[in-house]
Amino acid sequence: MLEDLWYKNAVIYSLDLETFMDANNDGTGDFEGLCNRLDYLHALGLDTIWLAPFQPTPNRDNGYDISDFYGVDPRHGSSGDFVSFIHKARKLGIKVIIDLVVNHTSDQHRWFQEARSSKDNAKRDWYVWSEERPADWNKGMVFPGVQKATWTRDKESKEYYFHRFYEFQPDLNTDNPEVREEINKIMGYWLELGIAGFRVDAVPFILESSNSKKGENPKLHFEYLKEMRKFLQWRKGDAVLLGEANVLPNESKKYFGEEGEGIHLMFNFFVNQYTFYALATADTRPLIKALEATKDIPGSSQWAHFLRNHDELDLGRLTEEERQTVFARFGPEKHMQLYERGIRRRLSPMLGSRQQTELAYSLMFSLPGTPVIRYGDEIGMGDNLELEERDSVRTPMQWTGEKQGGFTKGETPIHPVVDEGYYSYEHVNVEDQRREPGSLLNWMTSLIRMRKECPEIGYGNWEIMETGHTEILGMRYTWKNKILLIWHNFQEKSLELVVPEKMAGASRIADLMSNIESIVDEKGRHTITLEAYGYRWFRAVP
Ligand code: NOJ
Repeated sequence: MLEDLWYKNAVIYSLDLETFMDANNDGTGDFEGLCNRLDYLHALGLDTIWLAPFQPTPNRDNGYDISDFYGVDPRHGSSGDFVSFIHKARKLGIKVIIDLVVNHTSDQHRWFQEARSSKDNAKRDWYVWSEERPADWNKGMVFPGVQKATWTRDKESKEYYFHRFYEFQPDLNTDNPEVREEINKIMGYWLELGIAGFRVDAVPFILESSNSKKGENPKLHFEYLKEMRKFLQWRKGDAVLLGEANVLPNESKKYFGEEGEGIHLMFNFFVNQYTFYALATADTRPLIKALEATKDIPGSSQWAHFLRNHDELDLGRLTEEERQTVFARFGPEKHMQLYERGIRRRLSPMLGSRQQTELAYSLMFSLPGTPVIRYGDEIGMGDNLELEERDSVRTPMQWTGEKQGGFTKGETPIHPVVDEGYYSYEHVNVEDQRREPGSLLNWMTSLIRMRKECPEIGYGNWEIMETGHTEILGMRYTWKNKILLIWHNFQEKSLELVVPEKMAGASRIADLMSNIESIVDEKGRHTITLEAYGYRWFRAVP
């Protein structure tokens, strides 16, 4: 039954413990702090938390360099604190998804230490080695401009090891059955502790055969995804895999599986990039193409939609011209750009206006899939471009107007709190916005509630509605006997559109955000007005 698939209509909130709430005042967020804020998240209306890596780590890549997959970094608390958190979340009906970072480990992981200790060590083949420096040693870097190579010489064992990401993140060799078995163990461990699934980091790279890393027969082991999925489902029937795979639309089926037997959900990076293109140009045609290109997926599969995440806004799938257009509008200065493909800013400062921010979120929540929001975006937090690389968008959550934004009582937070300008914690914080009826926080709470009242989006079918305006995106959802009609105007001027009764599905349609109804005129048409950057959600009244 489609309705059994909880992830089809979930609302996911992504957060990093490190910068969310610090209870012991050492400057780093922790499980106790997060537990104290669960009521806030519950009241916001979300039902799933995606928790960034919290395992022991040297922390050179925001925790994505794990040195022990079976623990909790002491900065965040203990394993006991993790279990208390899961318990409290479950009581509130909140599911927890955690990162599964198994493309690589930290170079400080015991496995890598053993593997490098000698060429015949039992762990040697858990990583990818080459005696000679491969010809493509400086190709395929994920962080161009910062990362220098993908093969680095290990001084201890005098061979080269492969690392798709930074040199302190050696790739695991997933061709090796022992490694796969260990990955199962990791999944099994966290599932036993009550999580609802995994956000799988760097999926295409996990699937890369170690041969292809040596520049031979580029090959991805798609069957491995099915193997992972099978294991997951045996251990926990309703657990899910949410994949990070920034791939072209025609490749996505391989990840979902022809019959949906692969990964359950994937972030729709393609639509994300064309959303920003539409926001930058008011031309919705390329976005419509991107939506159509990613439409045909198995029934149990699902896209996860997002605006910003903890990384740069990756525009690598746009054409050079399109990318430059988005850069010019949202990240015109060099220091706002990163890795030759992206923008390292948060959403609100990029868009700059409340109306366009609302438009962007309303759109994202209306797209065919599961919405994922990033901590702090519900209050319109800003960024700090003085921090390096992606840390610009990883500043502490702004809870109050008190010192350090109420994130910590300690003197030195892990990243500085934004304390200057329009986005400073004194102006942008949860406490003030809770009290202000028209705040972004209260608006976002209503949006989440509305999304939850529209199961058509997760379960139903959709089509694009012709509007006669390239600046307007019209989408129509049907599910059982419900019809949902949603319009978004990307233009900064108001527009009117005429909707035939046949398309609307009824002679009366009710606006879900206000108590306005539209009734067809004598010619059998609805006339809908959209304000500048306006958006309207209607349901056909039978
Ligand atoms: C993708 C994560 O989103 C990013 O933050 C990280 O640096 C890389 N994977 C490596 O784990």
